[in-house]
Amino acid sequence: MSPHPNPPPQAREGVDNPPSLAGEGGARAGRRGRVGATVGDALTDAAAALAAAGFDEPRRRARRVLAAVLRLSAAEIFAHPERALTTAEEARHAEMLSRMIAREPLSRIIGRREFWGLEFVLSGDTLDPRPDSESVVEALLSRLPDRTPAYRFLDLGTGTGCLLLALLSEFPQAIGVGVDVAAGAAATARRNAKLLGLGDRAYFAVGDWARAIAGGFDAVVANPPYIPTGAIPELPPEVRDYDPKPALDGGSDGLQAYRAIAADLLPLLRRGGVFAAEIGLGQAEAVAAILAQNGLSIDAYATDLGGVIRCVIARR
Ligand SMILES: C[S@@+](CC[C@H](N)C(=O)[O-])C[C@H]1O[C@@H](n2cnc3c(N)ncnc32)[C@H](O)[C@@H]1O
Repeated sequence: MSPHPNPPPQAREGVDNPPSLAGEGGARAGRRGRVGATVGDALTDAAAALAAAGFDEPRRRARRVLAAVLRLSAAEIFAHPERALTTAEEARHAEMLSRMIAREPLSRIIGRREFWGLEFVLSGDTLDPRPDSESVVEALLSRLPDRTPAYRFLDLGTGTGCLLLALLSEFPQAIGVGVDVAAGAAATARRNAKLLGLGDRAYFAVGDWARAIAGGFDAVVANPPYIPTGAIPELPPEVRDYDPKPALDGGSDGLQAYRAIAADLLPLLRRGGVFAAEIGLGQAEAVAAILAQNGLSIDAYATDLGGVIRCVIARR
């Protein structure tokens, strides 16, 4: 769950009353209702509203919102500043911009997020997958260089199914099981598997970690909740207010889920099998100790693009 230490880009803190785009005073207010507002106008107004609300890179963000509204690429937005917006597009643009100014991540607003080059549908029960979690996928790929075996993978706390489905996209003969305590997450993961054409190799179950799962897996991956309970109120609003609590809350020291998962790993993994887990900032030693106490050998730590240890890799 890399989301936490690496939250979405920050806007200025303490903006309690974001400007209403539909009301008076917003930078966009003067344009609303104007016949023939163009892509160029909408971009300029949205960037001004985002800048006024304290967002960094307002122009880039404005382009992303408008691209999502118009279902165009950022390049197409650039290429056609003269294109006129319909009334419906203007209304949708104003609504999406208001939500963004209220700190709702754009991925939540549009209900989709790209991970490992694949598109994932989000729901209220799923974490919004973070790019840093790709380090778990990379860690497994580096340990299983042959892509052809019919491996069996297990993903504990699957959320959108992003880790498992990214792996299945790389191993065309593999099958996998994803487990989540949230029924809504398991349903969303199932939907993602279908949309990605991986539905016949991915199975999703509702459960408490691996309690109801029998062993024999070649690899187990997990991105469990790892934020200490007491730190949750301090998270940026984009995370705290929009990612589901069961995806964040790692108990009093943030390590509760690792203890629960580690206790079941030996019977789950075949001999030589790999376990790769995402960890929070500064948790590497503690998680490695928990895994070692439960009979696993620590293989390596993997860092994310920022050089932060993001993943612990162990073997049975
Ligand atoms: C940090 S999210 C990770 C989601 C996804 N794997 C990802 O990387 O985006 C942790 C997930 O663990 C699930 N979870 C929390 N407690 C659980 C439990 N006891 N058993 C199974 N899953 C659990 C949450 O519902 C959430 O989907």
